[in-house]
Amino acid sequence: MKHNVKTIQNMRDNQEIITMLTAYDYPTAKKVNDAGIDMILVGDSCAMVVHGHPNTLTATMDMMVLHCGSVARACDRTMVIADMPFGSFQYGVEETMRNAARFVTEAAVDGVKFEATHNHIEKTKAVVEMGIAVVGHVGLHPQAIGALGGLKVQGKDVATARKVVSESLALQEAGVFAIIFEAVPAKLAAYVTQKLRVPTISIGGGPGCSGQLLVTPDVLGLFDRFTPSFAKKYQDMGTLMLNTFKQYAEEVRTGVFPGEEHSYKMSDEVLETIEQEFGKI
Ligand code: KIV
Repeated sequence: MKHNVKTIQNMRDNQEIITMLTAYDYPTAKKVNDAGIDMILVGDSCAMVVHGHPNTLTATMDMMVLHCGSVARACDRTMVIADMPFGSFQYGVEETMRNAARFVTEAAVDGVKFEATHNHIEKTKAVVEMGIAVVGHVGLHPQAIGALGGLKVQGKDVATARKVVSESLALQEAGVFAIIFEAVPAKLAAYVTQKLRVPTISIGGGPGCSGQLLVTPDVLGLFDRFTPSFAKKYQDMGTLMLNTFKQYAEEVRTGVFPGEEHSYKMSDEVLETIEQEFGKI
């Protein structure tokens, strides 16, 4: 059965830890789905880890819808959440609703997430009232990199800790079914998790949340520009890929590949006829 808002909330109520990873394409999403991961975020991190941009600000609706469709088609079990990119929810309630609806109608995702602050509570409510499942996102908002002056942990001082708590409560009131905590001190994330009815999912929020999220290229060792301190590299697929490509090049250059088993055969008679018609080499 495919996960939905109810099964995810039940997991939290039964104290089962929710697993979540990012994915941006069909083959990766298929493996994430088949591995039994509960949720996928098609994050706007796509702009960085897939498209090579320096931050997430250049992700567009068209880019995200395309990636979301490939991911959604791979998932018959995992709940797929689309990340609304910068500029898709800042200009008003109606535009936010239209963009959220695009993800559902064009990419068939199961829900959307956006980096909503107190300024976006009306928009969050409006999308929930359309019948779309919404995930909140508090703590570090990478889309605010310009104003923040970098990707920094949020909630270490009273002012930012208060913002994390009050935004979480406001988002819950607005109807989100889960909240992602990014780069928040573990004690604060655990405290808010206890206060909320909805599940919390940590990416750099420590073990006291209802679930954990990582960016898949960090997990696989496929993004070498930088790795946040909260990420864990489970595999060095980058080195595996590099060595594989080197081996392929070597085999092509030395004639090892393609072998007979990789070539199509034809009867000698057909070749003889061709040689008679066009001349022998
Ligand atoms: O884009 C993304 O991958 C995200 C997570 C880091 C929460 O928004």
